[in-house]
Amino acid sequence: MTKISIAIDGPASSGKSTVAKILAKDFQYIYTDTGAMYRAVTYLAIKHQISFADEAGLVTLIKENPISFQQQVDGQHVFISGQDVTAEIRQPDVTKAVSEVSAHGKVREELVAIQQQIGENGGVVMDGRDIGTAVLPHAEVKIFLVASVSERAQRRYKENQEKGIPTDLETLTKEIQERDHYDSTREISPLKQAEDAVRIDTTGKSILEVVAMIKNVVSEKGYQL
Ligand code: CDP
Ligand code: CDP
Repeated sequence: MTKISIAIDGPASSGKSTVAKILAKDFQYIYTDTGAMYRAVTYLAIKHQISFADEAGLVTLIKENPISFQQQVDGQHVFISGQDVTAEIRQPDVTKAVSEVSAHGKVREELVAIQQQIGENGGVVMDGRDIGTAVLPHAEVKIFLVASVSERAQRRYKENQEKGIPTDLETLTKEIQERDHYDSTREISPLKQAEDAVRIDTTGKSILEVVAMIKNVVSEKGYQL
């Protein structure tokens, strides 16, 4: 059976990782959360007190601290040099700084090379901001997920409450708007819909509705996975 690549891009909390994980499981594909990689580098910078503006210092961190993923019963875990940092990379201090770290061209070069290696043989569902435009420009299926800012902030609020991360809706709304702005206006690989991507507005839609819509796109393109 053909092993295709599925690229899922979109702004913060549009539902990318949730639907990408389900699709990967259903298709028995590899799931790759590229945002987790940028978060891992940001976490390392905080831990090693490297300035977010120090591009060369950040690249050294990536080279010296291999990032890996492992599928566990409760979902995908992220490791840096063997240490499980799944929870740490979602903390507010990382979220606040990640856009600045990910705007550096050389940081992107390092991580994109790893992402392209993961995706080289297809059979992958990869989510991020530049998958359809830069990482996997030849992906057979490209999806661009969007949702209203208020719904995205509500989703993140609920998620943080469940995880016990202290939070308030106003701050989350502001943080999401700022991050979207920063990610869409940076010079290198900004968050942008690929010309051949299918745009899906997930506002008011359940996770399973969105998954079904994407599966429809896949079959309309002639792929039986
Ligand atoms: O899950 P959430 O929407 O909060 O973000 P994420 O997917 O974990 O990504 C965190 C940050 O990493 C984004 O805000 C971008 O600054 C950066 N990122 C990127 O630049 N390119 C990607 N392919 C993925 C993430
Ligand atoms: O990866 P991204 O930042 O785009 O979003 P996510 O982490 O997949 O989704 C953020 C939150 O919204 C999660 O708690 C999802 O369960 C929830 N969600 C939802 O309520 N409805 C959807 N259609 C998609 C996601």
